[in-house]
Amino acid sequence: MRVLTVIPTYNERESLPTVMRRLRQAVPEGHVLVVDDNSPDGTGRLADGIAAADANVHVLHRAGKEGLGAAYIAGFRWGLERDYDVLVEMDADCSHQPEQLPLLLDAVERGADLAIGSRYVPGGRTVNWPLQRQLLSRGGNLYARTLLGSRINDITAGYRAFRRETLERIGLDSVDSKGYCFQIDLGWRTERAGLTVVEVPITFVERAEGVSKMSPDVTREAVVRVAQWGLGARARTLARKLGRAG
Ligand code: GDD
Ligand code: MN
Repeated sequence: MRVLTVIPTYNERESLPTVMRRLRQAVPEGHVLVVDDNSPDGTGRLADGIAAADANVHVLHRAGKEGLGAAYIAGFRWGLERDYDVLVEMDADCSHQPEQLPLLLDAVERGADLAIGSRYVPGGRTVNWPLQRQLLSRGGNLYARTLLGSRINDITAGYRAFRRETLERIGLDSVDSKGYCFQIDLGWRTERAGLTVVEVPITFVERAEGVSKMSPDVTREAVVRVAQWGLGARARTLARKLGRAG
């Protein structure tokens, strides 16, 4: 399996060298693509330096900050064009421990169309996450699961491995989630396509350096979008039933 790990970055100068070192050590045969949104702190240049010294590391520069979802879509496109078999999502801040990536890749090798590194299945947990973030995450998962009728326990999780065919089936052109609701969007699309989603327990470790890019705008987009998707799906089901009855 040719594996490409996509790491979106925005002002991750302190974290990037550490995550790169740990990832290259944990999965040496894998390739990495850093997708930087022209970080003012120079993360893009730092990534270029790492790539210059390591043939398995690539960098995609984008003009400005357009959100986590937009960065991943650009990174996935790059990887699909270059014939990778598995596309991995990983945060730059070491919250997703590179040493646990083989667990996700094993799940894909055993048949998962999407493997999710999950905090909310037995064995999964979070370390050093402030109570406020834990509540937001739990609440967000409950909200999305209820409105969408999803069975994924950690549908907002950002540590994932997609089989390339999964992304091809979903069709990235139809995805327009900009921020973190991208995670919910892709999880739900994968589920609805009838593909196999496997949740692998992981330990999510809060970042030691830098700051979160989560913002009220990101939260608002997720709240509104999930409600729209959920109500839209319900309306379509109802219309189908009425159509049959009439
Ligand atoms: N290129 C780019 N552009 N990267 C971005 C952007 C953006 O607009 N916004 C965030 N990122 C990058 C960050 O630099 C980091 O590498 C990664 O995306 C995750 O951002 P964090 O700011 O560290 O996220 P978090 O810790 O608050 O949120 C985590 O938990 C969420 C809820 O479970 C992440 O794992 C999310 O993916 C997850 O949805
Ligand atoms: Mn983080």
